[in-house]
Amino acid sequence: MSEPRKILVTSALPYANGSIHLGHMLEYIQTDMWVRFQKHRGNQCTYVCADDAHGSAIMLRAEKEGITPEQLIANVQAEHSADFAEFLVDFDNFHSTHAEENRELSSQIYLKLRDAGHIATRSITQYFDPEKKMFLADRFIKGTCPKCGTEDQYGDNCEKCGATYAPTDLKDPKSAISGATPVLKDSQHFFFKLPDFQQMLQEWTRSGTLQDAVANKIAEWLDVGLQQWDISRDAPYFGFEIPDEPGKYFYVWLDAPIGYMASFKNLCARRPELDFDAYWAKDSSAELYHFIGKDIVNFHALFWPAMLEGAGYRKPTGINVHGYLTVNGQKMSKSRGTFIKARTYLDHLSPEYLRYYYAAKLGRGVDDLDLNLEDFVQKVNSDLVGKVVNIASRCAGFIHKGNAGVLVAGNAAPELTEAFLAAAPSICDAYEARDFARAMREIMGLADRANAWIADKAPWSLNKQEGKQDEVQAICALGVNLFRQLVIFLKPVLPLLAADAEAFLNVAPLTWNDHATLLSNHQLNEFKPLMTRIDPVKVQAMTDASKEDLAASQTDTGDAVPQGNGELVKDPLSAEIEFDTFAAVDLRVALILKAEAVEGADKLLRLTLDIGDEQRNVFSGIKSAYPDPAKLEGRLTMMIANLKPRKMRFGISEGMVMAAGPGGEEIYLLSPDSGAKPGQRIK
Ligand code: MSP
Ligand code: ZN
Repeated sequence: MSEPRKILVTSALPYANGSIHLGHMLEYIQTDMWVRFQKHRGNQCTYVCADDAHGSAIMLRAEKEGITPEQLIANVQAEHSADFAEFLVDFDNFHSTHAEENRELSSQIYLKLRDAGHIATRSITQYFDPEKKMFLADRFIKGTCPKCGTEDQYGDNCEKCGATYAPTDLKDPKSAISGATPVLKDSQHFFFKLPDFQQMLQEWTRSGTLQDAVANKIAEWLDVGLQQWDISRDAPYFGFEIPDEPGKYFYVWLDAPIGYMASFKNLCARRPELDFDAYWAKDSSAELYHFIGKDIVNFHALFWPAMLEGAGYRKPTGINVHGYLTVNGQKMSKSRGTFIKARTYLDHLSPEYLRYYYAAKLGRGVDDLDLNLEDFVQKVNSDLVGKVVNIASRCAGFIHKGNAGVLVAGNAAPELTEAFLAAAPSICDAYEARDFARAMREIMGLADRANAWIADKAPWSLNKQEGKQDEVQAICALGVNLFRQLVIFLKPVLPLLAADAEAFLNVAPLTWNDHATLLSNHQLNEFKPLMTRIDPVKVQAMTDASKEDLAASQTDTGDAVPQGNGELVKDPLSAEIEFDTFAAVDLRVALILKAEAVEGADKLLRLTLDIGDEQRNVFSGIKSAYPDPAKLEGRLTMMIANLKPRKMRFGISEGMVMAAGPGGEEIYLLSPDSGAKPGQRIK
């Protein structure tokens, strides 16, 4: 056997100003399954996380609730920890970024960067709230859109017309915190000189540390060239003061990733077998993986490795990026009841259902993952209850009644046990590669074979025949053994099912290597149902309760504070849009069912579009090019399906069709190649 690997794993640190929802859980469950797999295989794997407790949003939220930021983050940490524990996310440590270890490490890293010449200072001009006496991040400024004149828009973009601008372009700007008119004020800021690390990052991001899609995106940023990164904020700010710079604080994203190290350091103090330097020193041979969502790639694949390099630490072995969760094909929505908090889910359903569903759908890519609630019920019931647990429940009764619960020796179908053994390396590789979907497919393929074999042998019929008792026992003993193999393969995903199965099987906690053996002449314990079917009524109750959560939060004053850290995470590289911004556009093939002129509007056509799962009404200013609109009927075009509906004089426009050209008669509606189907999305 080779030496056990030393592996340190993290998930992104959740913000301490909000509850955990099922989107977050995708990440923590994904990471937990991978960590459990590593431990199952006998590797020394350590999983740390923490709450991300700093920033102005947390400070303001605490103020609104009339408590100190320290109280707020303690309350949230208790809530988060309970949610994670009940979802069986088994951190070795769940710390906080507002902790002494983090203060020390952040100061030390900053000082190393500064002393090596990687910190620049210069003065910048920003809006300042003269009443609150604080600088205002873009999200905390509201005013009238300079483009379309809509009031009450945020300082960075207009929700109505989509324009993006600098807060200084807003007309009639107001502080979203106090309502005061902000004034422009200069202050000294500290910048991390990212361009110093261009060469290193170019190599590091291409050295197998990132998924291809992520490496390609980063390469585009690197090609444009990196800019210096503003790492300071002025008081009042909830965070760590910068050494030697009174009144200046580290920007939350500076000390957040250092929180990974701090959480590990905090754990080392309790675990003598863990040595901080063995994991973080430049020459460390341990592996280090960060699991994150696609929205925070720049922080982890550019800023963080550069900080580590500049401060003399090792860099991550890999950054594992996942996509976003959608529910029923759409962004989680409070009004539809699909913005589901971890707690609301737990109030209605067992955590392992969701763990299995995520596993069944998680590949190694960065694609979004859809939690389709109907499919969820169907898949969990069919796979876990119908296939896996069914094997044990079909066999256990005969063994208890016919042989006092003892598994007989022997192997009634060596070809089956060999197939299970032969599948193990491939399942193992799939887990290692984070291709949980493939692992689940292969495991369910084995479960299908086991069920087919049992159905073919039909012990329930044999049991009624004279002299067939030995055969019945042989079949059922193998059935239970095959069930045990499946449990071994599924244990990283379903730790509770595994624990219950271990109790029934009367065995010590199973590890991966146990799959190579069979139980024989072995006493079982009583069989208790291991998992029940999901009742769709409970899923409905969960979405109903999520709508109620919304009603509660609308009267909750805390909700006025933006989620997240409240500061705009700016692309370090100019005005290009982030991939996420692009990926957020739901571009679809649409079939024009109906096209008609709109009475009282000389430019508009009213289009009725079929976009696969629904029909949409869209007003489009293309009449000048299509004087005979009926000719458009039956034709395919492209539409943006998730544009916020717009109320117009003639009705509500539910999206936008795409056309090119200067205008007038020269407007050309885009269409896909023939063969495209309504509802298909741009990939
Ligand atoms: N505090 C930062 C991370 C700092 S790490 C040094 C942060 N926090 S977060 O609470 O907004 O998000 C935590 C993680 O959850 C991120 O990796 C984020 O991508 C992920 N997700 C948040 N919403 C999600 C979905 N709807 N779907 C999938 N993952 C999502 O970012
Ligand atoms: Zn506007």
